[in-house]
Amino acid sequence: MSAAPSLSPSTAGTPAAPLQPVPLLQIEGLVREYRLPRESLFQAPPVLRALDGVDLQMAAGESVGIVGESGCGKSTLARTVVALESPSAGRVIFDGDDLFKLGRRDLLARRRDLQMVFQDPYGSLDPRHKVERVVAEPMEGLKTAGMAERAERVAEALAQVGLRPADADRYPHEFSGGQRQRIAIARALITRPRLIVADEAVSALDVSVQSQVLNLMMDLQAAVGMGYLFISHDLGVVGHVTDRVAVMYLGRVVETGRTAEIFHNPAHPYTRTLLAAVPVPDPARSRRRRARKTADQGPALTPQASGQSRPACAFMPRCGRATDICGTRRPELRPVDGGRLAACHHV
Ligand SMILES: Nc1ncnc2c1ncn2[C@@H]1O[C@H](COP(=O)(O)OP(=O)(O)OP(=O)(O)O)[C@@H](O)[C@H]1O
Ligand SMILES: [Mg+2]
Repeated sequence: MSAAPSLSPSTAGTPAAPLQPVPLLQIEGLVREYRLPRESLFQAPPVLRALDGVDLQMAAGESVGIVGESGCGKSTLARTVVALESPSAGRVIFDGDDLFKLGRRDLLARRRDLQMVFQDPYGSLDPRHKVERVVAEPMEGLKTAGMAERAERVAEALAQVGLRPADADRYPHEFSGGQRQRIAIARALITRPRLIVADEAVSALDVSVQSQVLNLMMDLQAAVGMGYLFISHDLGVVGHVTDRVAVMYLGRVVETGRTAEIFHNPAHPYTRTLLAAVPVPDPARSRRRRARKTADQGPALTPQASGQSRPACAFMPRCGRATDICGTRRPELRPVDGGRLAACHHV
């Protein structure tokens, strides 16, 4: 599923590599904290740091996977990238614009290029409205189109996902789960975005339907040229559809690089643990095999009272290679063998 060359300056590397274009998406030092309800009047409210300084870059047309255990911050990252949530610190730069410095009107215009497909094909489509209105919904705020153009764009988007023009006149409950996810994808396509953030977009579907929807997404990418930020528990799915992957652990990216390299030769001790827990299919050979979910392994994020902190490397308590430095100095992402980045003092 590759279109543009990898953008990350530190992962690019062969002497013959062309000059790197400006990344489409640059996530810099992204922090998102949630203030939780205080347990007593005399305590400061505990803070949960769901994103703890995430850095990531993506090229136009690239497909990047985000993997990691349940609660590591994948959905928080997704919502922040499409500006459904604001970060507590850090920046999201999309095609040169710092999203959170834009005024409301400019942000709305920018969001045309950034769409999201959610996990739940049942809950994410408004049951009260016909498919035409559901699919056209992202165009509403944009006021770009009259009724005729709207109907035309809906028909075009439905055709792109393999649905019939007449389906515009039906209600979401009349469709199967896989068809509903096609409707959700049509809704994402309606503004002709440059990036689609897909958060567990096929996880709720049966395996056979999953592969149809994944193949559709890949075909669309080839035809339309948009990129995907593809979030999934399922390493098999991510191995199948992404060019690059970022592995997250407790709110941080701990390793990132070409998907095939990371899956076959993980560098970070956490990536090794994650991959050891599932049989990762060779994407070329068994594209439809579904890896086991990695949810519920390891610790979820826990709220931190003020003054309390984790070790500098959050993986230290589970790491067989940990030494004193892991408790005191935070490992930053840096180039390691195989042209990828890893945040570990010991690789
Ligand atoms: N609105 C919120 N208020 C408080 N805490 C939140 C909120 N949203 C997420 N969190 C917490 O932030 C952490 C990261 O959650 P997030 O949903 O991003 O994880 P995830 O990696 O998507 O998990 P999963 O794989 O289960 O979908 C979790 O500990 C979660 O409980
Ligand atoms: Mg999630």
